[in-house]
Amino acid sequence: MNPMDSAKPSDANIQLMQLTNAFWTSRCLHVVAEIGVADHLNEKSESTDSLARSTGTHPESLYRVLRLLASQGIFAWKDGAWVHTEASRLLRADHPASMRDYIRMIGMPVFWHAWEELEYSVRTGRTAFQKIHPAGVFTYLSEHPEQSRIFNASMTSKAHRDIAAVLPAYDFSQFKTIADIGGGRGHLLRAILKQSPNTNGILFDQPHVIAEVQPEPAEKLSVVGGNFFTDRLPAADTYLLMNIIHDWDDADSIKILSGIRRDMPAHARVLVIETVVPTTHGPHLSKELDIAMMTLPGGKERTQEEYSKLVSHCGLRLNRVVETQSPYSVLEMLAG
Ligand SMILES: C[S@@+](CC[C@H](N)C(=O)[O-])C[C@H]1O[C@@H](n2cnc3c(N)ncnc32)[C@H](O)[C@@H]1O
Repeated sequence: MNPMDSAKPSDANIQLMQLTNAFWTSRCLHVVAEIGVADHLNEKSESTDSLARSTGTHPESLYRVLRLLASQGIFAWKDGAWVHTEASRLLRADHPASMRDYIRMIGMPVFWHAWEELEYSVRTGRTAFQKIHPAGVFTYLSEHPEQSRIFNASMTSKAHRDIAAVLPAYDFSQFKTIADIGGGRGHLLRAILKQSPNTNGILFDQPHVIAEVQPEPAEKLSVVGGNFFTDRLPAADTYLLMNIIHDWDDADSIKILSGIRRDMPAHARVLVIETVVPTTHGPHLSKELDIAMMTLPGGKERTQEEYSKLVSHCGLRLNRVVETQSPYSVLEMLAG
C-alpha cells in the first residue's frame, strides 16, 4: 500500500515531527525560566492576569506558553488558575535542587545563536560558537560578567543529579587533599568535603570564577585562581576534573592533563568525571552532550578507548572506569 493512501501518519512520521519541533517546547521553558515565572507562583494558585502583572508579561502570550508547558507536566491549570507541579517547582530560584540557572544558560542568546551555526560545524569541523566569537566560550564568558555568572550558577544547577550519583560511587574520603581543577563554584568538591571530614579541598578555576566563591569558616577549602594551560597546579593526592576534558579538543586536553601530570606527586590519582560514549547504539546522554561540545566550546565526548589513548600521551594510564547511577563515570588515572 502506498503510505500516502493512509490517513494515519506512520510512527516514523510522528517521530520525525516530534523531534523536529521539540525545541518549540524547550524554547518556552528557556523563556519561562529567564522571566522567573515560577518564582512568582507560590503555593496558592494564581490567575494568568496576576502572573502576567507580577512578571511584566503579556497575559495571553504567557497563558499560551504555560499551556504548552503544562501539557508536559510543567505547571498545571486547575480551576481556572495556575499551580505548581513537581517539575515547575524546580524552576524556582530558591529550590535547593533548582534547575533555573541551567535552563537559562542553555537558552542564553549567545549560545542559541551558536546553535544556528551547527551546519557550519558539520561542514567544516570547526566550532560553531567560534564562527561568531572567535576567542571561544571561556574567553567570551570572562569578558561578559552577567553571562559568566549565569554560566557558573548553571554548572551548580546541573550538577545536583550528577553529584548525587558520583558521591556513593567512589571512596573520596581516603584522600588527604583533593584538588578540583576547573571546579567552578566548587559544588562537587564541597559535597565531597561535607562527607569526608578528614579531607582538605583546593578549588582551582579562573580568577573571575573563583571570585564568586566564599568558603565557610568550617570548610577545609582553599581557593586558587589560575589558568590550567599556563599556571602551576597545586599539590594534591587526587585531582578531580568534572566536565573539563569534554570541553576541549585532543590537543588542548593533552595540554591540561600533561600539566597535571607535571605538577602532581607521583602517587596521586587523576579522576576525570565525564559521560563515556558507549560503543553500542541507542540513546545515551553522552551522544547529546557531544553535539553541544561540538557546537559550543569545541570539545567532544569520548569512548573509553579514546580516553585511554588520550591520557597515554600525558604520562598517565587509565586504571579503571567506575560507573555511577547516572550517565556519568569516574575515569581513574594513575601515573604510568
Ligand atoms: C563546563 S565547566 C565545569 C565546571 C565544574 N567542573 C562542573 O562540572 O560543574 C568548565 C570549567 O572550566 C573552567 N575553565 C575554563 N578554562 C579554564 C582555564 N584556562 N583555567 C582554569 N579553569 C578553566 C571554567 O571556568 C569552568 O568553571
